[in-house]
Amino acid sequence: MQKIDVFDTTLRDGEQSAGINLNTSEKLEIAKQLEKLGVDVMEAGFPASSQGDFEAVKKIAQTVQSSIVTGLARAVKSDIDTSWDALKYGAEPHLHIFLATSPIHMTHKLKKTPDQVVEIAVESVKHAKKHFPLVQWSAEDAFRSDPDFLVRIVEKVIQAGATTINLPDTVGYATPAEYGAMFNYLKNNVKSIDKVKLSAHCHNDLGMAVANSIAAIQNGADQVEATINGIGERAGNAALEELAVALHIRKDVYQYETGIHFQEIKRTSQLVSQLTGMAIQANKAVVGKNAFAHESGIHQDGMLKDRSTYEIITPELIGETSNQLVLGKHSGRHAFKNKAVELGFDLTDEKINDAFKAFKALADKKKQISEDDLYVILTDQQIQEDDTPVYELKSVQVQYGNGSIPTASVSVKNPEGELLQEASTGSGSVEAICNTLERLVKGKVHLLDYRVTSIGKGRDALGEAVVNLTYNGKSSTGRDVAQDVLEASAKAYLNAINRQIVNERNRSFAKSV
Ligand code: KIV
Ligand code: ZN
Repeated sequence: MQKIDVFDTTLRDGEQSAGINLNTSEKLEIAKQLEKLGVDVMEAGFPASSQGDFEAVKKIAQTVQSSIVTGLARAVKSDIDTSWDALKYGAEPHLHIFLATSPIHMTHKLKKTPDQVVEIAVESVKHAKKHFPLVQWSAEDAFRSDPDFLVRIVEKVIQAGATTINLPDTVGYATPAEYGAMFNYLKNNVKSIDKVKLSAHCHNDLGMAVANSIAAIQNGADQVEATINGIGERAGNAALEELAVALHIRKDVYQYETGIHFQEIKRTSQLVSQLTGMAIQANKAVVGKNAFAHESGIHQDGMLKDRSTYEIITPELIGETSNQLVLGKHSGRHAFKNKAVELGFDLTDEKINDAFKAFKALADKKKQISEDDLYVILTDQQIQEDDTPVYELKSVQVQYGNGSIPTASVSVKNPEGELLQEASTGSGSVEAICNTLERLVKGKVHLLDYRVTSIGKGRDALGEAVVNLTYNGKSSTGRDVAQDVLEASAKAYLNAINRQIVNERNRSFAKSV
């Protein structure tokens, strides 16, 4: 069976999704999990786009060993040089340069002639090759480009030293037959095409990203680009887990395999959803909450008689466990630490102690702690960032009655270390909390979106709140978890504000050095 390489772009194209803003430790956590998942290449970010992205890409390149780490760059020397400074630490430094090739993009966006675009592409690849052994070149909006122009420019960038050629369907417009035909055309018309790896990159605007990627593979693509849970610009990218599982389950038809460790799919999907604050739709293929739920009586009856009646993928394949209850209120630090190690966490003693305190506080309220609860507690410790002073929730109290006006009293410690208290009303408890917090923080806040979900099952499940707001005009998403959804909401609100404060501080630090 031919092996297809998986290029994950969760941390670059995925992170471009509206409302997602991951900090460096969150990106690193996801990168480590992607490595466990077995992706061949991971795109860790766009180093020249911001100081934050630069630092995250550098840290990931320094940490990840068994996947190739790449970063995105425009076809300009300064982007390429900055990317080298971040990516040179990788075991096999890899750069991803893109340049638009469709008439629409060349005319309206780049304002360049096709000849100029060829020249810029060739120069940028030659420059990148001075540093990088591996250079992927992407023809942005390839699908809407003139096929003969693609043949010409691809031939030239291969001669300039590109090692991978990527042909994206940037706007998600292709049908499987058409996208496959483009790969076939390039395979048959670019003389040196067999010297390079050929890659597919599909967006999901018409819901065909996974089907299009598979059509590309059937027509000569050696690599597919995808994101966890299909997150990404607009309607997202091809969902990595769907692609890998589809190729595996239907290997009788496709005859291709990937290096994905299926057992890590569920954990990776949950981690990405938790840290990005992007919920997974319940009926999403492979990783949705209902993907293995059999609801109708006839289906349940069939399943009881023989699982193969209605089950084509087993939950075990993707590492879905029954979320066992693992620890209780009497479990000690030793048992807690062992469980953390068993779940794959490698925390310092100080972090284990803090996580243990959080576990004890939860165990006092909840009889038994499940694996999902532990993942949340331990991941939260793992991603604790530096000690930049930010807002900290000290207490929140809400008075609610269906015949009275909801009132919240909140106290917070501000970044200057002062304890502040306020109270305010709202048309509901959450609004009362938001109104109070708005009075407590310096700056202008505008709430855009708010969501609460439960972690795991049961009436005592942890509540997770995700808050999307603008703070001083900049959009930010915060999240937090608590046993009470009102406390989780207050913390998530402050988390969104704190992320902006840390971003601002990093920005002014970057300017001053
Ligand atoms: O969709 C796209 O064209 C991209 C490129 C930057 C590869 O994401
Ligand atoms: Zn893309």
